[in-house]
Amino acid sequence: MKEWYKDWFSSELYLSVYSHRNDEEAEQLCRLILSSTQIKNGAKILDAACGAGRHSNHFSILGFDVVGFDLSKTLLYVAVNSAKEKTLPANFFCSDIRNVPLKSKFELIVNLFTSFGYFETDEENFSFIKQAYLMLENGGYYALDYLNEKTLRENLVPQSEKSINGGKIIERRKIAGNRVVKEINVFSGDEEIKFHESVRLYSKDDIMKETESVGFKLVNLFGDYTGTIFNENVSNRLIAVFQK
Ligand SMILES: C[S@@+](CC[C@H](N)C(=O)[O-])C[C@H]1O[C@@H](n2cnc3c(N)ncnc32)[C@H](O)[C@@H]1O
Repeated sequence: MKEWYKDWFSSELYLSVYSHRNDEEAEQLCRLILSSTQIKNGAKILDAACGAGRHSNHFSILGFDVVGFDLSKTLLYVAVNSAKEKTLPANFFCSDIRNVPLKSKFELIVNLFTSFGYFETDEENFSFIKQAYLMLENGGYYALDYLNEKTLRENLVPQSEKSINGGKIIERRKIAGNRVVKEINVFSGDEEIKFHESVRLYSKDDIMKETESVGFKLVNLFGDYTGTIFNENVSNRLIAVFQK
């Protein structure tokens, strides 16, 4: 389970299980992030752990010069095809977020929908924040869309079930030490496939401390994709926009 993210995100089932995380939601989040920045049309944006490219492709539609990377070749393939279908540039590459081989500078770097906290050590989890700082132009922005650990701990739903494509998915969730762990069981016909997720829980203060120590200044802190101001006691998400 140590490298659970390699198995789970290489499976096309990921997109079925998270089908509600769609283009409409991505457009909403892109708008929210852009409203906190002053970047100009055509500016360079890096989408870190871009998955199937729903945010990258929307930023491209809006006229930005976008590069996306991800570890999952399965999801990158979907990202490239989706860009081609929309006749958008498809600048995607495969990389591990702990070591991104890029020398270019960006005006906005985004790390969206809990693509954070997957690793065992704090050093690995926070390494991209340091790298993002170095890859940003002065005055550039870094947006992190992560969970709100306080409400997640308080409102965790231990089990839920849903149907997809004639099959069934059972998701079981628990807190294990400082991580939230999810077991995903997909039943299709006689077949049962099992996946795991395990995300390190960082509080708002942990995130703020780390980003400030790197040199970032907080510009805005939202608690959902509609732009409600973050409230640790009620917000579902922690969406932070920082500036270098
Ligand atoms: C929850 S998904 C979010 C994807 C995308 N940002 C979105 O909002 O649709 C997490 C993404 O992180 C990627 N990922 C996981 N581990 C990674 C790693 N070590 N390096 C780069 N990407 C990774 C996964 O492949 C997956 O696409």
